[in-house]
Amino acid sequence: MAIATETIRKPKIRHTQCFIDGKWQDAASGKTFATIDPATEETIADVAEGDAADVDRAAKAARRAFDSGPWSRMDARDRGRAIYRLADLIEEEIDELAALESLDNGKPVKDARAADLPLVIDCLRYYAGFADKIHGSTIPIRGNYFSYTRREPVGVAGQIIPWNFPMLMAAWKWGPALAAGCTIVMKPAEQTPLTCLRMAQLAQEAGIPDGVINVVPGYGPTAGAAVVKHPLIDKVAFTGEHRTAQIIMRDAADSLKRLTFELGGKSPNVILADADLEKAAAGTAFGLFFNQGQCCCAGSRVYVEDKIHDEFVARLTELAAGRRLGNPLSLDTDQGPQVDQAQFDKILSYIEKGHQEGAQCRTGGGRSGERGYFVQPTIFSGVTDNMAIARDEIFGPVMSVLKFSDWEELITRANDTFYGLAAAVWTRDISKAHDFARRVRAGTIWVNCYDVFDAAAPFGGFKMSGQGRELGEEGLKAYTESKTVTIAL
Ligand code: NAI
Ligand code: MG
Repeated sequence: MAIATETIRKPKIRHTQCFIDGKWQDAASGKTFATIDPATEETIADVAEGDAADVDRAAKAARRAFDSGPWSRMDARDRGRAIYRLADLIEEEIDELAALESLDNGKPVKDARAADLPLVIDCLRYYAGFADKIHGSTIPIRGNYFSYTRREPVGVAGQIIPWNFPMLMAAWKWGPALAAGCTIVMKPAEQTPLTCLRMAQLAQEAGIPDGVINVVPGYGPTAGAAVVKHPLIDKVAFTGEHRTAQIIMRDAADSLKRLTFELGGKSPNVILADADLEKAAAGTAFGLFFNQGQCCCAGSRVYVEDKIHDEFVARLTELAAGRRLGNPLSLDTDQGPQVDQAQFDKILSYIEKGHQEGAQCRTGGGRSGERGYFVQPTIFSGVTDNMAIARDEIFGPVMSVLKFSDWEELITRANDTFYGLAAAVWTRDISKAHDFARRVRAGTIWVNCYDVFDAAAPFGGFKMSGQGRELGEEGLKAYTESKTVTIAL
Protein backbone atom coordinates (compact mmCIF):
# COMPACT_ATOMS: atom_id res chain seq x y z
CA MET A 1 0.00 0.00 0.00
CA ALA A 2 1.20 3.48 -0.84
CA ILE A 3 2.09 5.89 1.93
CA ALA A 4 -0.34 8.75 2.25
CA THR A 5 0.95 12.17 1.37
CA GLU A 6 -2.02 14.16 2.52
CA THR A 7 -4.96 12.84 4.49
CA ILE A 8 -8.05 14.86 5.13
CA ARG A 9 -9.71 15.19 8.51
CA LYS A 10 -12.43 12.71 9.46
CA PRO A 11 -15.85 14.32 9.02
CA LYS A 12 -18.26 14.93 11.88
CA ILE A 13 -21.17 12.50 12.31
CA ARG A 14 -24.27 14.60 12.91
CA HIS A 15 -27.28 12.43 12.16
CA THR A 16 -27.92 8.82 13.12
CA GLN A 17 -31.67 8.75 13.75
CA CYS A 18 -34.65 8.25 11.45
CA PHE A 19 -35.85 11.45 9.78
CA ILE A 20 -39.64 11.33 9.81
CA ASP A 21 -42.05 14.22 9.30
CA GLY A 22 -39.21 16.71 9.70
CA LYS A 23 -38.11 15.31 13.07
CA TRP A 24 -35.18 13.18 14.15
CA GLN A 25 -36.38 10.15 16.02
CA ASP A 26 -35.10 6.83 17.29
CA ALA A 27 -36.48 3.65 15.82
CA ALA A 28 -39.75 2.67 17.54
CA SER A 29 -38.05 -0.54 18.67
CA GLY A 30 -35.11 1.42 20.10
CA LYS A 31 -32.76 -0.78 18.09
CA THR A 32 -29.61 0.43 16.38
CA PHE A 33 -27.05 -1.06 14.01
CA ALA A 34 -23.42 -0.21 13.42
CA THR A 35 -22.17 1.40 10.24
CA ILE A 36 -18.59 0.36 9.64
CA ASP A 37 -15.54 2.11 8.23
CA PRO A 38 -14.49 -0.47 5.63
CA ALA A 39 -10.88 0.75 5.67
CA THR A 40 -10.43 -0.12 9.34
CA GLU A 41 -13.38 -2.43 10.07
CA GLU A 42 -14.19 -0.18 13.03
CA THR A 43 -17.64 1.17 13.88
CA ILE A 44 -18.19 4.75 12.75
CA ALA A 45 -21.54 5.21 14.47
CA ASP A 46 -24.61 3.34 15.65
CA VAL A 47 -27.61 4.22 13.54
CA ALA A 48 -31.33 3.82 14.28
CA GLU A 49 -32.52 0.50 12.90
CA GLY A 50 -35.89 1.33 11.45
CA ASP A 51 -38.40 -1.37 10.61
CA ALA A 52 -42.08 -1.72 9.74
CA ALA A 53 -43.26 0.56 12.58
CA ASP A 54 -40.98 3.39 11.47
CA VAL A 55 -41.83 2.91 7.80
CA ASP A 56 -45.48 3.14 8.79
CA ARG A 57 -44.90 6.47 10.51
CA ALA A 58 -42.90 7.70 7.53
CA ALA A 59 -45.50 6.54 5.01
CA LYS A 60 -48.29 8.30 6.95
CA ALA A 61 -46.25 11.50 7.11
CA ALA A 62 -45.48 11.32 3.40
CA ARG A 63 -49.13 10.60 2.59
CA ARG A 64 -50.28 13.58 4.66
CA ALA A 65 -47.70 15.83 3.06
CA PHE A 66 -48.82 14.67 -0.36
CA ASP A 67 -52.60 14.72 0.13
CA SER A 68 -52.87 17.97 2.02
CA GLY A 69 -49.98 19.83 0.43
CA PRO A 70 -48.26 22.17 0.42
CA TRP A 71 -45.70 20.35 -1.70
CA SER A 72 -47.90 18.74 -4.33
CA ARG A 73 -49.97 21.91 -4.69
CA MET A 74 -47.16 24.39 -4.44
CA ASP A 75 -46.48 26.63 -7.39
CA ALA A 76 -44.15 24.53 -9.52
CA ARG A 77 -41.60 27.37 -9.75
CA ASP A 78 -41.35 27.48 -5.95
CA ARG A 79 -40.88 23.74 -5.82
CA GLY A 80 -38.08 24.09 -8.32
CA ARG A 81 -36.46 26.84 -6.26
CA ALA A 82 -36.44 24.66 -3.14
CA ILE A 83 -34.66 21.92 -5.09
CA TYR A 84 -32.14 24.48 -6.39
CA ARG A 85 -31.54 25.58 -2.79
CA LEU A 86 -30.88 21.97 -1.75
CA ALA A 87 -28.30 21.71 -4.55
CA ASP A 88 -26.69 24.96 -3.36
CA LEU A 89 -26.50 23.76 0.26
CA ILE A 90 -24.89 20.51 -0.86
CA GLU A 91 -22.40 22.51 -2.92
CA GLU A 92 -21.53 24.65 0.10
CA GLU A 93 -20.75 21.49 2.03
CA ILE A 94 -19.15 19.59 -0.80
CA ASP A 95 -15.85 18.80 0.94
CA GLU A 96 -17.49 17.65 4.15
CA LEU A 97 -20.01 15.48 2.31
CA ALA A 98 -17.32 13.93 0.10
CA ALA A 99 -15.37 13.02 3.23
CA LEU A 100 -18.45 11.52 4.89
CA GLU A 101 -19.23 9.47 1.78
CA SER A 102 -15.63 8.28 1.66
CA LEU A 103 -15.62 7.30 5.33
CA ASP A 104 -18.87 5.34 5.21
CA ASN A 105 -18.43 3.71 1.80
CA GLY A 106 -14.64 3.42 1.47
CA LYS A 107 -14.41 5.21 -1.87
CA PRO A 108 -11.42 7.52 -2.38
CA VAL A 109 -12.33 10.99 -1.21
CA LYS A 110 -10.91 12.45 -4.41
CA ASP A 111 -13.45 10.39 -6.43
CA ALA A 112 -16.31 11.40 -4.16
CA ARG A 113 -15.24 15.03 -4.55
CA ALA A 114 -14.65 14.90 -8.31
CA ALA A 115 -17.39 12.50 -9.43
CA ASP A 116 -20.16 11.69 -6.95
CA LEU A 117 -20.78 15.14 -5.52
CA PRO A 118 -20.73 17.14 -8.78
CA LEU A 119 -23.13 14.59 -10.29
CA VAL A 120 -25.41 14.88 -7.24
CA ILE A 121 -25.55 18.66 -7.53
CA ASP A 122 -26.03 18.58 -11.29
CA CYS A 123 -28.84 16.02 -11.04
CA LEU A 124 -30.76 18.10 -8.49
CA ARG A 125 -30.35 21.26 -10.59
CA TYR A 126 -31.40 19.47 -13.75
CA TYR A 127 -34.65 18.34 -12.13
CA ALA A 128 -35.17 21.63 -10.30
CA GLY A 129 -35.38 23.23 -13.74
CA PHE A 130 -37.95 20.65 -14.81
CA ALA A 131 -40.42 21.35 -12.00
CA ASP A 132 -42.31 24.02 -13.98
CA LYS A 133 -42.01 22.27 -17.34
CA ILE A 134 -44.15 19.22 -16.68
CA HIS A 135 -47.18 19.38 -18.88
CA GLY A 136 -49.60 17.28 -20.86
CA SER A 137 -51.00 17.75 -24.33
CA THR A 138 -54.25 18.52 -26.09
CA ILE A 139 -55.71 15.66 -28.08
CA PRO A 140 -57.96 15.90 -31.13
CA ILE A 141 -60.57 13.21 -30.32
CA ARG A 142 -63.61 12.37 -32.44
CA GLY A 143 -66.80 14.39 -31.78
CA ASN A 144 -67.44 17.76 -30.19
CA TYR A 145 -65.15 17.44 -27.21
CA PHE A 146 -62.07 19.07 -25.82
CA SER A 147 -59.63 16.48 -24.52
CA TYR A 148 -56.32 17.03 -22.82
CA THR A 149 -53.87 15.22 -20.55
CA ARG A 150 -52.37 16.38 -17.30
CA ARG A 151 -49.18 14.93 -15.83
CA GLU A 152 -49.70 14.54 -12.13
CA PRO A 153 -47.33 13.29 -9.44
CA VAL A 154 -47.62 9.55 -8.80
CA GLY A 155 -47.99 10.21 -5.06
CA VAL A 156 -45.84 8.77 -2.29
CA ALA A 157 -42.64 7.28 -3.67
CA GLY A 158 -40.85 4.52 -1.79
CA GLN A 159 -37.17 4.57 -2.69
CA ILE A 160 -34.68 1.85 -1.84
CA ILE A 161 -31.06 2.45 -2.71
CA PRO A 162 -27.73 0.59 -2.57
CA TRP A 163 -24.39 1.48 -1.06
CA ASN A 164 -22.13 1.93 -4.07
CA PHE A 165 -23.05 5.59 -4.77
CA PRO A 166 -25.12 6.49 -1.73
CA MET A 167 -25.64 10.22 -2.30
CA LEU A 168 -25.85 9.93 -6.07
CA MET A 169 -28.52 7.24 -5.87
CA ALA A 170 -30.45 9.46 -3.46
CA ALA A 171 -30.16 12.40 -5.89
CA TRP A 172 -31.28 10.29 -8.86
CA LYS A 173 -34.38 9.41 -6.89
CA TRP A 174 -35.13 12.63 -5.04
CA GLY A 175 -34.57 14.91 -8.05
CA PRO A 176 -37.37 13.63 -10.29
CA ALA A 177 -39.68 12.75 -7.38
CA LEU A 178 -39.46 16.24 -5.90
CA ALA A 179 -39.76 17.98 -9.27
CA ALA A 180 -42.92 15.99 -10.03
CA GLY A 181 -44.43 16.93 -6.65
CA CYS A 182 -44.18 13.50 -5.03
CA THR A 183 -43.32 12.87 -1.41
CA ILE A 184 -40.72 10.33 -0.36
CA VAL A 185 -40.01 7.44 1.99
CA MET A 186 -36.39 6.49 1.45
CA LYS A 187 -34.52 3.52 2.81
CA PRO A 188 -30.78 3.96 2.36
CA ALA A 189 -28.50 0.93 2.26
CA GLU A 190 -27.61 -0.47 5.66
CA GLN A 191 -23.90 -0.19 4.78
CA THR A 192 -24.03 3.54 4.04
CA PRO A 193 -26.79 5.50 5.78
CA LEU A 194 -24.84 8.60 6.82
CA THR A 195 -24.81 10.91 3.79
CA CYS A 196 -28.48 10.35 3.01
CA LEU A 197 -29.38 11.44 6.54
CA ARG A 198 -27.25 14.56 6.11
CA MET A 199 -28.99 15.30 2.81
CA ALA A 200 -32.35 15.09 4.57
CA GLN A 201 -31.24 17.76 7.03
CA LEU A 202 -30.05 19.99 4.19
CA ALA A 203 -33.39 19.47 2.40
CA GLN A 204 -35.17 20.76 5.48
CA GLU A 205 -32.85 23.78 5.59
CA ALA A 206 -33.57 24.34 1.91
CA GLY A 207 -37.26 24.79 2.77
CA ILE A 208 -38.61 21.46 1.59
CA PRO A 209 -41.62 21.02 3.91
CA ASP A 210 -41.77 18.45 6.70
CA GLY A 211 -43.06 15.07 5.61
CA VAL A 212 -41.95 15.50 1.99
CA ILE A 213 -38.69 13.61 2.52
CA ASN A 214 -38.55 10.85 5.12
CA VAL A 215 -35.51 8.65 5.62
CA VAL A 216 -35.71 5.34 7.47
CA PRO A 217 -32.37 3.56 7.81
CA GLY A 218 -32.52 -0.19 8.37
CA TYR A 219 -32.21 -3.57 6.72
CA GLY A 220 -33.76 -4.80 3.48
CA PRO A 221 -35.99 -7.66 4.61
CA THR A 222 -37.45 -5.52 7.43
CA ALA A 223 -37.49 -1.79 6.60
CA GLY A 224 -37.11 -2.31 2.84
CA ALA A 225 -39.87 -4.90 2.62
CA ALA A 226 -42.15 -2.66 4.72
CA VAL A 227 -41.73 0.13 2.15
CA VAL A 228 -42.64 -2.28 -0.65
CA LYS A 229 -45.75 -3.59 1.13
CA HIS A 230 -47.08 -0.37 2.62
CA PRO A 231 -50.55 0.42 1.24
CA LEU A 232 -50.07 4.18 1.47
CA ILE A 233 -47.04 4.11 -0.83
CA ASP A 234 -47.84 4.37 -4.55
CA LYS A 235 -44.57 3.51 -6.21
CA VAL A 236 -41.25 1.86 -5.47
CA ALA A 237 -38.02 2.84 -7.17
CA PHE A 238 -35.26 0.37 -6.42
CA THR A 239 -31.58 0.08 -7.27
CA GLY A 240 -29.68 -3.07 -6.34
CA GLU A 241 -29.45 -6.72 -7.14
CA HIS A 242 -31.87 -8.43 -9.57
CA ARG A 243 -32.68 -11.12 -6.97
CA THR A 244 -33.85 -8.41 -4.59
CA ALA A 245 -35.94 -6.91 -7.40
CA GLN A 246 -37.64 -10.27 -7.86
CA ILE A 247 -38.60 -10.31 -4.18
CA ILE A 248 -39.80 -6.72 -4.44
CA MET A 249 -41.95 -7.51 -7.46
CA ARG A 250 -43.66 -10.32 -5.55
CA ASP A 251 -44.08 -8.20 -2.42
CA ALA A 252 -45.54 -5.34 -4.48
CA ALA A 253 -48.14 -7.55 -6.13
CA ASP A 254 -50.79 -7.13 -3.44
CA SER A 255 -50.86 -3.36 -3.72
CA LEU A 256 -49.95 -3.32 -7.44
CA LYS A 257 -47.38 -0.61 -6.94
CA ARG A 258 -45.68 1.07 -9.83
CA LEU A 259 -42.14 -0.27 -9.98
CA THR A 260 -38.94 0.97 -11.49
CA PHE A 261 -35.74 -1.03 -11.18
CA GLU A 262 -32.13 -0.25 -11.88
CA LEU A 263 -30.24 -3.51 -11.45
CA GLY A 264 -26.92 -5.13 -12.14
CA GLY A 265 -24.95 -6.01 -15.22
CA LYS A 266 -22.13 -7.92 -16.80
CA SER A 267 -21.39 -5.33 -19.39
CA PRO A 268 -19.27 -6.14 -22.47
CA ASN A 269 -16.50 -3.72 -23.33
CA VAL A 270 -15.11 -4.44 -26.79
CA ILE A 271 -11.73 -3.32 -28.11
CA LEU A 272 -11.10 -3.54 -31.84
CA ALA A 273 -7.61 -3.61 -33.28
CA ASP A 274 -8.07 -0.23 -35.02
CA ALA A 275 -8.87 1.64 -31.78
CA ASP A 276 -6.68 4.26 -30.14
CA LEU A 277 -5.19 1.67 -27.82
CA GLU A 278 -3.82 4.06 -25.25
CA LYS A 279 -7.21 5.68 -24.74
CA ALA A 280 -8.96 2.34 -24.92
CA ALA A 281 -6.72 0.86 -22.23
CA ALA A 282 -7.19 3.83 -19.92
CA GLY A 283 -10.96 3.79 -20.50
CA THR A 284 -11.17 0.04 -20.01
CA ALA A 285 -9.27 0.15 -16.72
CA PHE A 286 -11.43 3.05 -15.55
CA GLY A 287 -14.62 1.29 -16.70
CA LEU A 288 -13.88 -1.65 -14.44
CA PHE A 289 -11.74 -0.46 -11.54
CA PHE A 290 -13.53 2.83 -10.82
CA ASN A 291 -15.26 2.79 -7.43
CA GLN A 292 -13.46 -0.47 -6.48
CA GLY A 293 -15.33 -2.19 -9.30
CA GLN A 294 -18.60 -1.59 -7.47
CA CYS A 295 -20.53 -0.18 -10.42
CA CYS A 296 -23.69 -1.65 -11.87
CA CYS A 297 -22.41 -0.77 -15.35
CA ALA A 298 -18.82 -1.97 -14.79
CA GLY A 299 -17.22 -3.14 -18.04
CA SER A 300 -16.43 -6.53 -16.59
CA ARG A 301 -16.37 -8.61 -19.79
CA VAL A 302 -13.51 -7.19 -21.81
CA TYR A 303 -13.45 -8.59 -25.36
CA VAL A 304 -10.16 -7.88 -27.13
CA GLU A 305 -9.58 -8.56 -30.84
CA ASP A 306 -6.98 -11.32 -31.17
CA LYS A 307 -4.50 -9.24 -33.24
CA ILE A 308 -3.87 -6.83 -30.38
CA HIS A 309 -4.74 -9.10 -27.48
CA ASP A 310 -1.34 -9.60 -25.89
CA GLU A 311 -0.24 -6.00 -26.27
CA PHE A 312 -3.53 -4.74 -24.87
CA VAL A 313 -3.49 -7.07 -21.88
CA ALA A 314 0.04 -5.88 -21.11
CA ARG A 315 -1.18 -2.26 -21.10
CA LEU A 316 -4.14 -3.12 -18.85
CA THR A 317 -1.91 -5.04 -16.47
CA GLU A 318 0.43 -2.09 -16.11
CA LEU A 319 -2.46 0.27 -15.39
CA ALA A 320 -4.02 -2.08 -12.83
CA ALA A 321 -0.74 -2.76 -11.05
CA GLY A 322 -0.07 0.98 -10.83
CA ARG A 323 -3.21 1.76 -8.88
CA ARG A 324 -2.50 3.04 -5.37
CA LEU A 325 -4.53 1.29 -2.71
CA GLY A 326 -4.88 2.81 0.70
CA ASN A 327 -6.72 5.05 3.11
CA PRO A 328 -9.66 6.48 1.18
CA LEU A 329 -9.28 9.77 3.01
CA SER A 330 -5.77 10.19 1.54
CA LEU A 331 -5.79 12.42 -1.48
CA ASP A 332 -3.47 10.19 -3.52
CA THR A 333 -5.48 6.99 -3.09
CA ASP A 334 -6.89 5.49 -6.30
CA GLN A 335 -8.64 2.52 -4.75
CA GLY A 336 -10.15 2.07 -1.32
CA PRO A 337 -11.62 -0.98 0.38
CA GLN A 338 -14.74 -2.86 -0.72
CA VAL A 339 -17.83 -1.77 1.16
CA ASP A 340 -18.13 -4.64 3.63
CA GLN A 341 -17.10 -8.13 4.65
CA ALA A 342 -19.81 -9.79 2.56
CA GLN A 343 -18.70 -8.09 -0.66
CA PHE A 344 -15.05 -8.71 0.18
CA ASP A 345 -15.71 -12.44 0.70
CA LYS A 346 -17.81 -12.67 -2.45
CA ILE A 347 -15.08 -11.08 -4.59
CA LEU A 348 -12.33 -13.31 -3.16
CA SER A 349 -14.48 -16.36 -3.85
CA TYR A 350 -14.79 -15.30 -7.51
CA ILE A 351 -11.03 -14.82 -7.75
CA GLU A 352 -10.71 -18.37 -6.43
CA LYS A 353 -13.17 -19.60 -9.07
CA GLY A 354 -11.15 -17.82 -11.78
CA HIS A 355 -8.04 -19.74 -10.71
CA GLN A 356 -9.93 -23.03 -10.48
CA GLU A 357 -11.54 -22.64 -13.90
CA GLY A 358 -8.15 -22.15 -15.51
CA ALA A 359 -8.06 -18.43 -16.32
CA GLN A 360 -4.63 -16.76 -16.14
CA CYS A 361 -4.22 -14.23 -13.38
CA ARG A 362 -2.09 -11.39 -14.81
CA THR A 363 -1.98 -9.16 -11.77
CA GLY A 364 -3.53 -9.05 -8.31
CA GLY A 365 -5.39 -12.14 -7.23
CA GLY A 366 -5.94 -11.66 -3.54
CA ARG A 367 -6.55 -9.34 -0.63
CA SER A 368 -4.29 -6.39 0.08
CA GLY A 369 -3.04 -5.73 3.59
CA GLU A 370 -4.22 -7.28 6.82
CA ARG A 371 -6.90 -4.85 7.87
CA GLY A 372 -9.84 -3.41 5.94
CA TYR A 373 -11.64 -4.91 2.95
CA PHE A 374 -8.95 -4.19 0.37
CA VAL A 375 -8.77 -6.34 -2.76
CA GLN A 376 -5.91 -6.07 -5.26
CA PRO A 377 -6.86 -4.88 -8.74
CA THR A 378 -7.06 -8.21 -10.53
CA ILE A 379 -6.98 -9.15 -14.21
CA PHE A 380 -7.71 -12.57 -15.63
CA SER A 381 -6.98 -13.33 -19.28
CA GLY A 382 -7.78 -16.50 -21.16
CA VAL A 383 -11.32 -16.26 -19.84
CA THR A 384 -13.95 -18.21 -21.78
CA ASP A 385 -17.65 -17.49 -22.05
CA ASN A 386 -18.91 -20.11 -19.64
CA MET A 387 -16.61 -19.40 -16.71
CA ALA A 388 -18.30 -17.97 -13.63
CA ILE A 389 -16.08 -14.88 -13.83
CA ALA A 390 -17.44 -14.24 -17.35
CA ARG A 391 -21.08 -14.69 -16.39
CA ASP A 392 -21.71 -13.43 -12.87
CA GLU A 393 -21.67 -9.90 -11.57
CA ILE A 394 -18.65 -9.83 -9.25
CA PHE A 395 -18.99 -6.18 -8.20
CA GLY A 396 -15.32 -5.84 -7.40
CA PRO A 397 -11.95 -5.00 -8.98
CA VAL A 398 -11.77 -8.18 -11.05
CA MET A 399 -11.52 -7.91 -14.83
CA SER A 400 -12.15 -10.82 -17.19
CA VAL A 401 -10.46 -10.55 -20.59
CA LEU A 402 -11.83 -12.64 -23.46
CA LYS A 403 -10.47 -12.93 -26.98
CA PHE A 404 -12.43 -12.57 -30.22
CA SER A 405 -11.71 -12.56 -33.93
CA ASP A 406 -15.06 -12.63 -35.75
CA TRP A 407 -17.42 -9.65 -35.54
CA GLU A 408 -20.71 -11.55 -35.95
CA GLU A 409 -19.65 -14.01 -33.29
CA LEU A 410 -18.65 -11.13 -31.04
CA ILE A 411 -22.12 -9.56 -31.23
CA THR A 412 -23.72 -12.88 -30.30
CA ARG A 413 -21.33 -13.35 -27.39
CA ALA A 414 -21.86 -9.79 -26.16
CA ASN A 415 -25.60 -10.47 -26.00
CA ASP A 416 -25.25 -13.88 -24.37
CA THR A 417 -26.25 -12.80 -20.86
CA PHE A 418 -29.49 -12.13 -19.04
CA TYR A 419 -28.18 -8.68 -18.22
CA GLY A 420 -28.43 -5.65 -20.49
CA LEU A 421 -27.31 -2.56 -18.67
CA ALA A 422 -24.40 -1.12 -20.65
CA ALA A 423 -21.90 -1.95 -23.37
CA ALA A 424 -18.95 -0.19 -24.97
CA VAL A 425 -16.92 -0.44 -28.13
CA TRP A 426 -13.57 1.15 -28.95
CA THR A 427 -12.93 1.56 -32.67
CA ARG A 428 -12.21 4.09 -35.44
CA ASP A 429 -14.62 2.22 -37.74
CA ILE A 430 -17.83 4.24 -37.68
CA SER A 431 -19.87 1.48 -39.34
CA LYS A 432 -18.87 -1.06 -36.73
CA ALA A 433 -19.60 1.42 -33.95
CA HIS A 434 -23.13 1.98 -35.24
CA ASP A 435 -23.66 -1.70 -35.88
CA PHE A 436 -22.67 -2.44 -32.29
CA ALA A 437 -24.90 0.32 -30.93
CA ARG A 438 -27.87 -1.04 -32.83
CA ARG A 439 -27.44 -4.74 -32.16
CA VAL A 440 -26.24 -4.99 -28.57
CA ARG A 441 -29.21 -5.19 -26.25
CA ALA A 442 -28.32 -2.82 -23.45
CA GLY A 443 -29.73 0.44 -22.07
CA THR A 444 -26.54 2.43 -22.58
CA ILE A 445 -23.92 2.12 -25.32
CA TRP A 446 -20.63 3.98 -25.06
CA VAL A 447 -18.41 4.42 -28.11
CA ASN A 448 -14.77 5.31 -27.41
CA CYS A 449 -15.62 6.25 -23.84
CA TYR A 450 -16.89 4.61 -20.65
CA ASP A 451 -18.95 5.68 -17.64
CA VAL A 452 -20.06 8.95 -19.18
CA PHE A 453 -23.08 9.98 -17.13
CA ASP A 454 -25.27 13.04 -17.39
CA ALA A 455 -28.49 13.93 -15.60
CA ALA A 456 -30.11 14.59 -18.99
CA ALA A 457 -29.29 11.17 -20.47
CA PRO A 458 -31.63 8.30 -19.51
CA PHE A 459 -30.04 5.32 -17.80
CA GLY A 460 -31.40 1.84 -17.15
CA GLY A 461 -31.45 -1.73 -18.28
CA PHE A 462 -32.74 -4.09 -20.92
CA LYS A 463 -33.63 -7.63 -19.84
CA MET A 464 -32.89 -8.41 -16.19
CA SER A 465 -30.87 -5.23 -15.71
CA GLY A 466 -33.93 -3.21 -14.98
CA GLN A 467 -37.29 -1.78 -15.74
CA GLY A 468 -37.94 1.81 -16.74
CA ARG A 469 -35.30 4.51 -16.91
CA GLU A 470 -33.79 6.98 -14.51
CA LEU A 471 -32.47 10.44 -15.40
CA GLY A 472 -33.59 12.65 -18.24
CA GLU A 473 -37.20 13.26 -19.08
CA GLU A 474 -37.94 9.53 -18.96
CA GLY A 475 -36.76 9.46 -15.37
CA LEU A 476 -39.18 12.25 -14.52
CA LYS A 477 -42.11 10.54 -16.26
CA ALA A 478 -41.64 7.56 -13.98
CA TYR A 479 -42.83 9.81 -11.12
CA THR A 480 -45.97 10.97 -12.89
CA GLU A 481 -49.34 9.61 -13.85
CA SER A 482 -51.09 10.73 -16.98
CA LYS A 483 -54.69 11.88 -16.55
CA THR A 484 -57.02 12.36 -19.50
CA VAL A 485 -59.71 15.03 -19.18
CA THR A 486 -62.52 15.20 -21.74
CA ILE A 487 -65.07 18.02 -21.85
CA ALA A 488 -68.22 18.08 -23.97
CA LEU A 489 -68.42 21.33 -25.89
P1 NAI B 1 -29.29 -5.66 -2.36
O1 NAI B 1 -30.10 -5.65 -3.62
O2 NAI B 1 -29.58 -6.71 -1.37
O3 NAI B 1 -29.45 -4.26 -1.61
C1 NAI B 1 -29.85 -3.03 -2.20
C2 NAI B 1 -30.90 -2.36 -1.32
O4 NAI B 1 -32.06 -3.18 -1.24
C3 NAI B 1 -30.45 -2.12 0.12
O5 NAI B 1 -30.97 -0.90 0.58
C4 NAI B 1 -31.10 -3.29 0.85
O6 NAI B 1 -31.31 -3.04 2.21
C5 NAI B 1 -32.41 -3.39 0.12
N1 NAI B 1 -33.08 -4.70 0.24
C6 NAI B 1 -32.50 -5.91 0.42
N2 NAI B 1 -33.44 -6.87 0.52
C7 NAI B 1 -34.65 -6.25 0.39
C8 NAI B 1 -35.99 -6.71 0.41
N3 NAI B 1 -36.30 -7.98 0.59
N4 NAI B 1 -36.98 -5.80 0.25
C9 NAI B 1 -36.70 -4.51 0.06
N5 NAI B 1 -35.44 -4.02 0.05
C10 NAI B 1 -34.42 -4.88 0.20
O7 NAI B 1 -27.77 -5.70 -2.77
P2 NAI B 1 -26.55 -6.08 -1.78
O8 NAI B 1 -26.89 -7.30 -0.99
O9 NAI B 1 -26.16 -4.87 -1.06
O10 NAI B 1 -25.43 -6.45 -2.85
C11 NAI B 1 -25.38 -7.75 -3.42
C12 NAI B 1 -25.01 -7.70 -4.88
O11 NAI B 1 -25.96 -6.95 -5.61
C13 NAI B 1 -23.70 -7.03 -5.20
O12 NAI B 1 -22.62 -7.88 -5.05
C14 NAI B 1 -23.91 -6.62 -6.62
O13 NAI B 1 -23.67 -7.72 -7.46
C15 NAI B 1 -25.37 -6.26 -6.66
N6 NAI B 1 -25.62 -4.82 -6.50
C16 NAI B 1 -25.92 -4.07 -7.59
C17 NAI B 1 -26.10 -2.72 -7.46
C18 NAI B 1 -26.42 -1.87 -8.62
O14 NAI B 1 -26.11 -0.69 -8.61
N7 NAI B 1 -27.08 -2.39 -9.62
C19 NAI B 1 -25.93 -2.03 -6.20
C20 NAI B 1 -25.67 -2.90 -5.08
C21 NAI B 1 -25.51 -4.23 -5.27
MG1 MG C 1 -28.36 -7.88 0.54
